[in-house]
Parts: sequence; C-alpha cells; structure tokens
Amino acid sequence: MLKRKNLVFLGAPGAGKGTISNLLLAKHPLAHISTGDILRAEVAAGTEAGKKAGAIMKAGKLVPDELVADMVSRRLTAPDCENGFILDGFPRTIPQADLLAAALAKLGRSLDRVIYFKVPEEVLIQRLTARLCCRGCDAIYNKLFMPPKVEGKCDKCGGELYQRADDSLETAQNRLKIFREQTAPLVEYYEKRGQLFTAAGEDSADILKQILADLE
Ligand code: AP5
Ligand code: MG
Repeated sequence: MLKRKNLVFLGAPGAGKGTISNLLLAKHPLAHISTGDILRAEVAAGTEAGKKAGAIMKAGKLVPDELVADMVSRRLTAPDCENGFILDGFPRTIPQADLLAAALAKLGRSLDRVIYFKVPEEVLIQRLTARLCCRGCDAIYNKLFMPPKVEGKCDKCGGELYQRADDSLETAQNRLKIFREQTAPLVEYYEKRGQLFTAAGEDSADILKQILADLE
C-alpha cells in the first residue's frame, strides 16, 4: 500500500488524471486534491471564488494562479493530507509550481513524484467530447470508451450523469492550446529537478501498473 506519497498528476485535459486517481484511491489512502473539482464545487455553490472562476473555466482558460494556489495551500493543511496526496491538475503554470514548492516547504514537506500522463492529442479530443461525469460521486465515464451499464446513470451510486460545460469541441480545443502554452513547460521544470515520471500508453490498467512500479 502506498503511504505518505506526495504526488502531482500532470497531463493535458483528458489525459486520464481523474480516472487514474480514482483507480489508485480505490486501494491507497491518499487525499485527492483536484483543483478542477474544487473549482466546480465553488461555481455550483455560487461563492466569490466560484463567481470569479466560472466564466474563465467555461472559456477553457486558467483561473488566476494566486486563487488556486491559496485554495491548495489551505487544503494541504487538512488532516487527510498527512497520509500523502494526489494533486490532480495543480500546478498548471511555472508560478504555481513555485508557489507549491513554497507552501510545501512551510509545511516541512516535499513532492515525491510528478507523474506526467503522455497521450496523443487526437485521442484527447475524442475522450473529452464523449466524457460523462456523475453528479453524485467522483465517477468518470465515457460514451465511447467506458460507457455506464445503464445510459445516463452512474454504476456506483445511481447518480445522474452529465457532460461538463467545458467539454464542448471548441472549449476542449482551447484547453489543449492553453495546456501546450502554459502547462507543458512544467514537464521540463520537473524533469530538471529529477522528479518526473512519464506514464505513456492508452490502457488505464497498464498506466496504473507503471505508476505503482515506479513508486513502490
Ligand atoms: P480540470 O477539471 O482539472 O480539467 P483538465 O485538466 O482539463 O483535465 P480533465 O479533468 O478534463 O481530464 P483528466 O485528465 O482528469 O481526464 P479524465 O480522467 O476525466 O480543470 C477544469 C478547469 O478548471 C480548467 O480548464 C481551468 O479553467 C480550471 N483549473 C483547474 N485547475 C487549475 C489550475 N491549477 N490553475 C488554473 N486553473 C485551473 O478522462 C477524460 C475522459 O477520457 C473520460 O471520459 C474517461 O472515461 C476517458 N478515459 C480516461 N482514461 C482512458 C483510457 N485509458 N482509455 C479510454 N478512455 C479513457
Ligand atoms: Mg479531471
């Protein structure tokens, strides 16, 4: 069992960060910190942060570095992070990576590994535009690749499945462009620091195996 591993999941929209997080969390007691999930919850609750973030997310752009970095810094002090964590979708810019390093240093902690999910771009668009998410739990499906047993319903909790507002073709293409411009430089950033592990391929079970082999 993985314990006290502090991980970052880095990858383009649709690379499988959420899907592999769910597979890993089914057996390993790490805290899951998805900045996208936290922001969507803020938008749904109509908070100040949510009001700032909603339109930006719908356009496929990144919300301001300080806003996400503050959310993550607070979240990292929660007791469940003591067992280790997966940061899913954070950092996404070099300034965010620097802010994360500073926040962890304050807590006397550091990253064990940054897992980079390398998936060809044409596959990403296909995945994103066919994704379905559950309103009741964190389950993720895909109309083409991982359909639910009953159309429109979550296999795990029976919740309603919906398409994310940013999964239209146009917004997905914008998100991929933003990834290339602002997030991809983090691959070299973490490679230089000797913290990067690249998981390649398109089979989730195989990717999970690669990650566990690297960490154990
Ligand atoms: P976020 O929610 O993090 O979106 P993202 O990074 O664009 O990533 P996704 O959640 O779209 O993809 P994923 O890698 O999790 O893939 P998944 O497993 O779901 O962020 C949303 C927005 O919030 C951002 O655009 C930004 O505005 C804002 N934001 C968030 N963090 C921020 C930050 N740090 N700074 C600034 N702004 C931030 O899989 C995708 C689909 O593929 C699913 O349908 C799944 O079933 C399928 N699939 C997965 N693996 C496979 C496989 N092996 N084979 C076949 N299908 C697969
Ligand atoms: Mg995700």
